[in-house]
Amino acid sequence: MRRLDLSTSGAVLASLLACTPSPASAFYFPGVAPTSYKTGDIVPLYVNHLTPAYQPNNPQLKLQSVYSYDYYHPPFHFCREKDGPKQVRESLGSILFGDRIQTSPFELKMGINETCKLLCEAPYPAKDAAFVNSRIHQAYDLNWLIDGLPAAQSLRDPSSEEPFYSPGFALGLWDGETPMLNNHYDIVIDYHEASPNNYRVVGVLVDPFSISESKRQGDDQATCKGQTPVILKENDDDKNLVTFTYGVYWRLSPTPFATRWDKYLHVYDPTIHWFSLINSAVIVVFLVGMVSTILVRTLKKDIARYNRLDQFALEDFGESGDADDTADDSGWKLVHGDVFRPPTNPLLLSVLVGNGAQLFAMTALTIAFALLGFLSPSNRGALGTVIIIFYTLFGFFGGYVAARTYKFFHGESWKMCFFYTPVALPALVFATFFLLNLFLWGRGASGAVPFTTMLVVIIIWFVISVPLSVAGSWIGFKQAAIEAPVRTNQIPRQIPPVGGYLRPLPSMALAGVLPFFAIFVELYFIMNSIWFSKVYYMFGFLFICFGLMIITSAAVTVLTIYLLLCAENYHWQWRSFFTAGASAAYVFAGCLLYWIKDVSWTSWTSGVVYLGYSALLSALVFLLTGTIGFFASWLFTLKIYRSIKVD
Ligand SMILES: *[C@@H]1O[C@H](CO)[C@@H](O)[C@H](O)[C@H]1NC(C)=O
Repeated sequence: MRRLDLSTSGAVLASLLACTPSPASAFYFPGVAPTSYKTGDIVPLYVNHLTPAYQPNNPQLKLQSVYSYDYYHPPFHFCREKDGPKQVRESLGSILFGDRIQTSPFELKMGINETCKLLCEAPYPAKDAAFVNSRIHQAYDLNWLIDGLPAAQSLRDPSSEEPFYSPGFALGLWDGETPMLNNHYDIVIDYHEASPNNYRVVGVLVDPFSISESKRQGDDQATCKGQTPVILKENDDDKNLVTFTYGVYWRLSPTPFATRWDKYLHVYDPTIHWFSLINSAVIVVFLVGMVSTILVRTLKKDIARYNRLDQFALEDFGESGDADDTADDSGWKLVHGDVFRPPTNPLLLSVLVGNGAQLFAMTALTIAFALLGFLSPSNRGALGTVIIIFYTLFGFFGGYVAARTYKFFHGESWKMCFFYTPVALPALVFATFFLLNLFLWGRGASGAVPFTTMLVVIIIWFVISVPLSVAGSWIGFKQAAIEAPVRTNQIPRQIPPVGGYLRPLPSMALAGVLPFFAIFVELYFIMNSIWFSKVYYMFGFLFICFGLMIITSAAVTVLTIYLLLCAENYHWQWRSFFTAGASAAYVFAGCLLYWIKDVSWTSWTSGVVYLGYSALLSALVFLLTGTIGFFASWLFTLKIYRSIKVD
C-alpha cells in the first residue's frame, strides 16, 4: 500500500486520503467481483475509445486534442470480428463520461503464451492514411480493457523511480518527422493463482511495435519479425497494406486480486497535493481567524452598544444628549428597516439558490461517497452514475430551498418558481452538452454522447427529477415563511455611495480569489483527468479542499456583507451571491491558463469544445460558491439583527 513517501503513520493517513480500495477488504462492490479462469479459458479483450495521451515524461508535448475517437471509426481500419463488433453493456455514467466499449477479435487464452498471431490485413487509402498519421502526430492512445483492467504502459516516476502502470498505449510513434503506425502488440498479462487452476487477471501491459515486414502466412499465422517501421504513405497510388499481429505473454504474479489496482493508481507528485492542502489550510485558518475575531468582537461591541443606547434612550428620554447618541448610532443597525427588503428579481435569485443547493448537496454527497471507497476506479462509470442519481434525487431539496427562499422574499409568481427551478440548470447543462456534441458529431469523434443516452438522461430528468423538485417546492411553499427579526420600513432608505474596495467589482475580485485558492490545485488535477481521460481518485484531498472552499466562501462573504451593511448599503442578497460566486471567474481564468500552458491547438473544434466545457465548469462553480455565500450571509443577517433590540 505504500504509495507516498512518508513515514508509516503518514502513510496510513495518505492511503486514507488517496482513497484507494483497502487490500484487507474481502468485500467487492457490484461489478468488481473477481472472475476466475482455468488454463486455456478465453479472456475477452474489449476495446474502448482512442484518447489523446498524457505524456508525463515529455513535458514539452502538450495535449494536442480534446476529443476521443471510436475504436472502430472507419479510417483507423482496426481489425473487427467476422460478424462485426458488439457493444459491451455499460453503466449510464460510463457512457456519459465517454466510454465506448466494444468487443474485439483478439483471442487470449489464460496461461497460454503466443508469440505471433495474425489479426487481419488492412489497406489504408490515401485519405485514411493522412487521417491516421495526423492522429499519431496528436499522440492518440489506444485503450483496451482486459477483465476490467486497462491495458497499460509501464512507466517510471521521474522523481521516485518507482515503476507504475499508466493506462493506455500509443497508436503510433512520432519521431519528429515521420509517423509510424504500431501494428504489433505484445500483450503481457499478470495473473494470480487464487487456488489450483483458478487464475485471475491482476495486471495488463501492452508493448506496441511497428513492423513493416509482418506478413500473413496461411490462414491465421504470420511472421512478426523485422526492423523497419510501418509508414503510411499519403499519395493515391500506394496500397499501404498493413498486417496487424499480436503476441500474448502470461506472467505469474504474487499480486492478489484485491490490490490489483494499486499499481495503476499512481500519484505523480504527492507533495504538490500536500503543499496545496497546507497552503489553503493556512489561508483558511488565517482568514477564519481574522473574520471571527473582527466580527465577533466588533459585533459584540456593536450589539452591546446598540442595546445600551436603547435603554438610555428609554430611561433618559428627552434629557440626555440625543445628538451624541445618534452620532454614535451608526453602522449596520441603521439599515434594520431595509435589510430584509426583498431584492430586485427575487424569482431569479431563488431559482439560482435552489439549483445551487441541489448542486451542493450532490457534490458533497458524491465526494463523501467517493471518500468511503464506493467509487473506486475499478467500478467503471460509478462516479458518473452516482452523480446523476444524486442530482436527480436532490431535485426535491433544490425545489424546497428555492420555494422557502422565494417565500422569504415575499415572492408572488409561484408557478414560475415551481417551473424554473427544475428547468434552469439542467437546461443550461444540456444545451451546452448538446451544442458541443453537435461539433463532435461533425468531426466524427466519439466523445459525442449517443443520441439514445441523451434520451435516457432526458427521461430520467423529466420523469423523476422534475416531479421531485415540484414536490419539494410544494412542501416549501406550504411551510410558514422564515420570519425576519426586524420589520421592514415602508419607504426604502437612501443608500450612501460606497467607495474603494466595497464597490461591487473590487469586492468581488478580492473575495473571489480566496475560495479559488482553496481548490485550484485539485481543480488542476481534475482538469488533467478530464482532458487526458485519466482516473481521478484523490477524493481524500478533494474532500478537504471542498470543506476549505465552503469555509472560505462563507467567511469572505460574511465579512464583505458586514462591511457593506456598516456602510449602510443593505443590498446584500445579490451581492453575497456574486461575491462568493466571483471565484468562478478565477476558475475560468485558470482554465484559460491551462489552455495556454498544457494544450496546443490543431483545430478550432478543439478550442470550441474546450472553451465550452470550461465555461460550463465555471458556471457550476459560480452557482455552487454563490449559493454558499448567499446562505452564509442570510444566516449572518438573521443572527445579528435578531440580537439587537429595535422598537
Ligand atoms: C510466457 O511468457 C512469460 C513472459 O515471457 C514467461 O515468464 C512465462 O514463463 C511463459 N509461460 C510459458 C508457459 O511458457
